[in-house]
Amino acid sequence: MLSFDDVPTANTETATATPKAPALDFTPSPTANENSAIGTTQTVSSVSVMPATESGAGATGVEQIEITQKRITVDEKNIINCRADLNQLVPFKYEWAWQKYLDGCANHWMPQEISMSRDIALWKDPNGLTDDERTIIKRNLGFFSTADSLVANNLVLAIYRHITNPECRQYLLRQAFEEAVHTHAYQYVVESLALDEGEIFNMYREIPSIYAKDVFQLQFTQELADSNFKTGTEATDRRFLRNLIGYYIIMEGLFFYVGFVQMLSFGRQNKMTGASEQFQYIMRDESMHLNFGIDMINSIKLENPHLWTNDFQQEIIDLVKEGVELEYAYAVDTMPRGVLGLNAQMFSEYLRFVANRRLKQIGLPEQYPGAKNPFPWMSEMIDLKKEKNFFETRVIDYQTGGALSWD
Ligand SMILES: [Fe+2]
Ligand SMILES: [Fe+2]
Repeated sequence: MLSFDDVPTANTETATATPKAPALDFTPSPTANENSAIGTTQTVSSVSVMPATESGAGATGVEQIEITQKRITVDEKNIINCRADLNQLVPFKYEWAWQKYLDGCANHWMPQEISMSRDIALWKDPNGLTDDERTIIKRNLGFFSTADSLVANNLVLAIYRHITNPECRQYLLRQAFEEAVHTHAYQYVVESLALDEGEIFNMYREIPSIYAKDVFQLQFTQELADSNFKTGTEATDRRFLRNLIGYYIIMEGLFFYVGFVQMLSFGRQNKMTGASEQFQYIMRDESMHLNFGIDMINSIKLENPHLWTNDFQQEIIDLVKEGVELEYAYAVDTMPRGVLGLNAQMFSEYLRFVANRRLKQIGLPEQYPGAKNPFPWMSEMIDLKKEKNFFETRVIDYQTGGALSWD
């Protein structure tokens, strides 16, 4: 089960948003043309991969197959810039990646399994929620409904082809599916509440604080999605690591947490329990994505210690601090006035606490001394098993899958 983390410290420093200007109007560059026939109808008994043509670059898994009796060994495997055959999952080197794949599958859930009936009644009741509460829900749906697509795009169009380890790729494929489930969940909530879908899904082009976070993230994807981008040099390996930190640490580890606190706070007050439960399941998944990212980032650091220079560490620290400012601006934008027992100052504190924790998790010094967690209940919410009766809605034990019957 997931082990969550977080708890913050107090700091009264005021953060201000620093939105970037570039337009969101992006079309991801096509990735390298990949052969789809690999791994399907080959008849050779064992294969090896032809060495990559460019020195330093890793295999992709679509190289020409050569007939050989030579078997893969664990020693040949690396997370980036590895030439060993990527289509052979075993022998495992990174057991943590395989275990997270299994854990992700064991936590399978679908949005339709959660009842939205009480949410619908409350939303339709003119006196059911305040305007501020409705704003929080709509802004969060606005941010998350496209954020998970950005994450999925980064996985599929930017990260995947540069990860040269099959255990990690196996998890990335599971994660990509989970991101699709999350986007489905937001669509399901929007449809259930009969919200204006255009208003919600176009919000990342209309609300400055959401736009600023997404533009910040897109810089990482656009660079790697360029078909000319290749790992294998010190400079490009560092850019790749920067992308992983940008998404796993800042997007999934920081930019999601104001929304998680806000949406789960509704459930704690017995309001919008269905939507809140959807977000609780999503947060459980995201916690695992984050933990996978941390393991992968730290493994790449171990295998490539030359990348982790003082200058690069400072660059990452600066990115995380910029992320804190962007997320604080989002907190203010979603919740200009105190509501649900929350206020902007609490988020200022919380984000500093979370940022400290994230920095520490990848071996960097904390930047916000003394920051404390104003929401200690968040840690417990990650583990659904402790919260079976928290919401009055149905909670399914997703540990077992449906059985197939062949009669
Ligand atoms: Fe997600
Ligand atoms: Fe995720």
